[in-house]
Amino acid sequence: MPTPTSTPARHSVLFVCLGNICRSPTAEGVFRHTVATRHLTTHFHIDSAGTGDWHIGAPPDPRAIRAAAAHNIDISQLRARQINAQDIKTFTHIIAMDLTNLTTLTALTPPQHRHKIHLLLDLTPNTPTREIPDPYYADDNAFHQTLTLIQHATTNLLNHIITNQ
Ligand code: 4NP
Repeated sequence: MPTPTSTPARHSVLFVCLGNICRSPTAEGVFRHTVATRHLTTHFHIDSAGTGDWHIGAPPDPRAIRAAAAHNIDISQLRARQINAQDIKTFTHIIAMDLTNLTTLTALTPPQHRHKIHLLLDLTPNTPTREIPDPYYADDNAFHQTLTLIQHATTNLLNHIITNQ
């Protein structure tokens, strides 16, 4: 008889930005990649959403797809969606990219679920900003910088989750 093992904790992480076509799909793809590299895929459910509805059904911005592809991460199949009340109830970690997203999420979230909301960069000390800057109106280079910041911050997020589980 195999020795029964305890069921590992399952974490569900939802990355949230405004449009769900630049920062949060990048965070979803990068975090999924890091989790897979650490052989933790079965412990995590990972998704992303926007607070806005303008891009529902759209793929990530081509510049975000290119920046991720440069790191061998394919986000081209993701499609934008808007956060909903069920997400807020069910995800264990709801991660905002910037302070505007954080404010919107906090307003949408009943008090008993607010402890799940965090600003991504709050776990990353020594950054000049608390926010992942929105690269939408910038150039390809900004998307590469955004990805690097997200890579650093999501690694810290993963370490935080597995240390505190
Ligand atoms: P995201 O970037 O929030 O990182 O997906 C944006 C995408 C679209 C718009 C703004 C930000 N927009 O205004 O359409």
